[in-house]
Parts: sequence; C-alpha cells; structure tokens
Amino acid sequence: MSEDGQTPGGLYAEHLDTLARGYAGALEAAGLEAVIIHSGTPQKRSEADDQHWPLRPVPEFQRWTPLAQPDCALVIRPGARPRLVWLRPESVWEQPPEPEWDGWQAHFDIDEVTGAEAARRYLPREGAAVIGERRTPPPWLAGQPLNPEVLVKALDDLRVTKTPYEVHCLREANRRAAVGHRRVAEAFRTGAAAEIDLHLLFLAATRQDDPETPYKNIIALGPHAATLHHVTYGRAVSGRAYESLLIDAGAAYLGYTSDVTRTYVKGSGPAADAFAELLRRVETMQQSLVAQAVPGLPYPALHERAHAAVARILSEMGILRMTAEEVVSRGLTRTFFPHGLGHSLGLQCHDVGCAEVPPTEATDWLRNTTTIAPGQVFTIEPGLYFIPARLRALREGPHAAAVDWPLVERLAEMGGIRIEDDIHVTGAPGRPVENLTRPWLP
Ligand code: GLY
Ligand code: MN
Ligand code: MN
Repeated sequence: MSEDGQTPGGLYAEHLDTLARGYAGALEAAGLEAVIIHSGTPQKRSEADDQHWPLRPVPEFQRWTPLAQPDCALVIRPGARPRLVWLRPESVWEQPPEPEWDGWQAHFDIDEVTGAEAARRYLPREGAAVIGERRTPPPWLAGQPLNPEVLVKALDDLRVTKTPYEVHCLREANRRAAVGHRRVAEAFRTGAAAEIDLHLLFLAATRQDDPETPYKNIIALGPHAATLHHVTYGRAVSGRAYESLLIDAGAAYLGYTSDVTRTYVKGSGPAADAFAELLRRVETMQQSLVAQAVPGLPYPALHERAHAAVARILSEMGILRMTAEEVVSRGLTRTFFPHGLGHSLGLQCHDVGCAEVPPTEATDWLRNTTTIAPGQVFTIEPGLYFIPARLRALREGPHAAAVDWPLVERLAEMGGIRIEDDIHVTGAPGRPVENLTRPWLP
C-alpha cells in the first residue's frame, strides 16, 4: 500500500484492460495466437559459487503483475483471462519474496505447480512465442520461438505510454526515494559522514536492501561527483571535510522505479561560494527545462536547449571568457555536460520505447529521442561537471586561454552538479507536465 493509504486496485483493473488491448494488437501483428512470458531465472553472483542475486523480473512479466518470483510463466491469449503458471518448488534453502500488494491475484487464473513437467500442461503447444531472458532461456519453455523481433518491438512500443496505475506506482517510488534523499541531505549538512555511511543511511531510510534499489546508489562527495556513476564509496570517516554532495538514488514500488538526483553544498569560502552560485543557476535551468517539456517538442530539441543553457551559465559566470553562442559553436558545452538530458522511466530505470536512435558517445548518450507526448514518463537531468580528463583536453586544446583556470580549479574541488526529476506528461490544459519528484523533494 502506498503512503496515501491507497492500494492501486481500481487503477490496476483498468491497467490490465489497457495491456490486454495492446497485447491483442501486438500478437495479431506478429501472427501469433498467444504469448508466454517467463519471469526470469536468478543470476549467479559468481560462476565459482552457488549464490544468486535477487530476481529482477523480465519487465514484460512485471508489467502484468508485481510478483517477483523466478520461473513463473504468464500466458496471454486475446479474449481469455490471463493465466499464471506459478512454479513453486519446495525448497529447504530459500523462500521467494512476496509482493507488497496481493490484490493482483484476483485478476488471473492461477495454476500452482511444483515442477516443470506439471507446468508444461498449462502452456499452449503451438501458435505461441516466449518472451524471456536471452542469456538464460528457460529450459521448460524450449521448443517455442524466443523473443521474436516483431513482437518485442511492439511490446516495447506499448511501454512508451504509462497507464494511470503505472503513474501511481512511479509517484509512490518518488515519494519513497525522497525519504532517503532528505535523510542523507540532513546527515551531509550536519556532519562528516563518509560516502558508505550516506549510502547505508539511504538504504535504511527507504527500507531497501542494496540489490533491491533500482540502480546502484550514486553517492559522491567533493571531487568524486565528477565521476558520473560514482559507486565505489569512500569509507574514511575522519578524512577531509567535503563541502559538496551529489546523490543520485531511487526507490522501487511494485517494480516501478524512481531516478532522482540532488546536489548540495555547505560551508563558505571562495570554492563553496562559487559552487553555490553555480548550483543556483543549474537549478533554475533544470526547472526551466521541466517547464518546457510540453507535448509536440522533440526530446532531442530539449537536450539542445539544455546545451544552450549550460553555455549561458559558463559564459555568465566567466568560467569561459566568450559569449554563450561561441561556447555552443565551439562544442565546449560537451566538455562540461557529457551525458543525455534524460531517458524514459518505468519498470527499468532506463526504460525502453523512447529511444529510436540507440545512445552512443556521438549522440551524447541521449536515450530519449522521441517527440514528447502525453502518457510518457521520463527524467530531466542536466548536469555540469569538472571532469579531470575533459579539463586536461581543454587545457591542451585551442580554447585554453579563454578559461578562467583558477575558478575552474576551485569548482573542481566540488566535482560537479546534476539535478534530476521524474516527469509525467499529462498533456492537460494548464498543466501539461506533472513533476513526480518535487512534491516530495525540493
Ligand atoms: N541514475 C542513472 C541515471 O540517472 O541515468
Ligand atoms: Mn536518470
Ligand atoms: Mn539518476
């Protein structure tokens, strides 16, 4: 149950209806009568031992049910109730996790079995395909085509638009993440905790085990924030007192994820003061980009507007002694902002469906290349970093003389800034976007 006391019950029934309609169309286009969706196989932590990671269910499976148990199969056949073949072998070693909301069960025909032989009795023998993990195909589903491309593409496309149930789950995932963010921000402001302590604090505050978080918490003090995915946490408690913190950490609810970043600064002095000014400007830029994310605008155009805004900041703060137009035309924003503005969000932190052009270094790793439309949920996460390797290249390049190097060196002590919110495009007049993060976290 979410914090507002609501179960997603009513929304869930409507969600299943929407899915059933979408799947009927996708199956017809693929020339199939039914699809079997396997939940997944636990992945070993190491070839050398027999311990496993907790299951991350196949997203197509998780979209139908919050059940996160291995070796279950859904059978979706247009016109019939969805069927769940639930393999529950007796084990003296482990118990699988139960979903935190079980109202979903009433919507399925459920066959509980203890072995694969029995499970096979409930599966279609022909006219079906299997959706499942490619790296560990389920042996008891062998003999049916696995992940036919046409079907996978159609199912990915269905995930671009979130149902009200999914938005409800994403809102709750944001509320949960905010609890952890607030606790960590407070600990940073009032003490000198090491990165590992802040990481553990986030887990405790959000009641998540480390492998359960949607992605590895990024907790970066001082210059570590220049590493975009800093997950090798510093452990020294009595080390130097850092004045900046970048935290990029999310939470999950019924399989749906939040992806939230904040940057903080404390202390005073030339470095902290300059960084605080930079932070204020990036914050204003991020909020402005959120307001511009309206239906009809290609997301890559918003990404380019972010570059123009980064150029204005670099120019106005005197980090680069040139006009904003010159900063853009010389490609210098990419020294300081080397990643995409955002990505689709849902059952995966980097969700499928919105990336028509696969991300590469040449595309700034931009993972959302669609046109903004109602029903989409994506992140908006501009950043501005002082990355040693990029600064070295700048120093050795033709524009070195235009850089205020003493200012850059002061700011580099703070690593960098990223601010990330999760955005739901409503398309509603007067309020075309809903920021899922800000109600919980300023
Ligand atoms: N937390 C990973 C990302 O923001 O894309
Ligand atoms: Mn993100
Ligand atoms: Mn993030």
